[in-house]
Amino acid sequence: GAAELGPYRHYMQKEIFEQPRAIADTLEGVEAVVPELFEAARNHAPGEGAHATFRATDQVLILACGTSYYAGCVAKYWLEAIAQLPCAVEIASEYRYRESVPNPRTLVVTITQSGETADTLAALRHAQSLGMQHTLTVCNVATSAMVRECKLAYVTRAGIEIGVASTKAFTTQLAGLFLLTLALAQARGLLTEAQEAEHLKAMRQLPNALQAVLALEPQVITWAEQFAAKENALFLGRGLHYPVAQEGALKLKEITYIHAEAYAAGELKHGPLALVTSAMPVVTVAPNDALLEKLKSNMQEVRARGGVLYVLADADTHIDSGDGLHVIRLPGHYGALSAIVHVVPLQLLAYHTAVARGTDVDKPRNLAKSVTVE
Ligand code: G6P
Repeated sequence: GAAELGPYRHYMQKEIFEQPRAIADTLEGVEAVVPELFEAARNHAPGEGAHATFRATDQVLILACGTSYYAGCVAKYWLEAIAQLPCAVEIASEYRYRESVPNPRTLVVTITQSGETADTLAALRHAQSLGMQHTLTVCNVATSAMVRECKLAYVTRAGIEIGVASTKAFTTQLAGLFLLTLALAQARGLLTEAQEAEHLKAMRQLPNALQAVLALEPQVITWAEQFAAKENALFLGRGLHYPVAQEGALKLKEITYIHAEAYAAGELKHGPLALVTSAMPVVTVAPNDALLEKLKSNMQEVRARGGVLYVLADADTHIDSGDGLHVIRLPGHYGALSAIVHVVPLQLLAYHTAVARGTDVDKPRNLAKSVTVE
């Protein structure tokens, strides 16, 4: 009811603003990267705990749907770079029906807010039926079917999420997946104590970093006022920020009904550049990372065709607003955790565009919070 909403107009807005708290709760008690963090599901037999499982892992298979799938796509970059584990991410409804090659040394990771999504549960059971018994879920509901059926679990503490479009569940999933990456790296002897301490310190700064980004809401509202009249939008990113761009596009289509598409920026010239006109805003996720210079030339390609850029930069990105170029600068530089921070203005953009268009933000047409039938 209205009382629960407090100062917020919708649950989605409230949940976006709860993210500093949700991340802090999810990381509460995490003093060190220990295997026990992943033993919230008490289904493992002796010798099958997280420590033994992580040491026996030589590849990761992530299965999920919707926003949770994009969390998996971010995690793939972390797992390959930091834990040096090959990682495949699959849409659960595809994986469950395709012929694939099982490897018993795979850690099967499902990601699900509800823990009840029919396709994700079926994909898990399919992997098990192929002989893959090392299963772990990153899930927001401790009592869910998914936590019951996986051997290992990291339970995120986003709290109940009511808005159909997922927000705080996504960022807490990413926090859990980053910890999982560190745990796997450690089990493989790839993480020094100093590196562990540094990563954990950066994670503990996330609530403050998110708070500072939420304070950019007025700037995002000015963008949203411009987006409200649009029919199409393109989202660009590279590397870790490509799935962030995908999640931004998903948020926009879910609740504003504006057609939005995300592309890895290097693919622009292989198709979407043909769509660019001044009528289509191009949102670019542009923190200062190893690919920024490449991304800047992709942005030039858009500008040269009269496209209008909406750029999310960070404190270290040297791009300034100008003609056809709108920049919102996040106040810090977030390194490997940048994906968690940069999605927040995209959530706010979708939210305020939906408010400006007068759509039913918390209950978008044709969509359900939890898809428990196929
Ligand atoms: C539905 C929801 C999405 C969610 C997806 C997967 O489509 O509307 O917000 O991302 O299901 O749900 P899960 O509970 O498995 O994360």
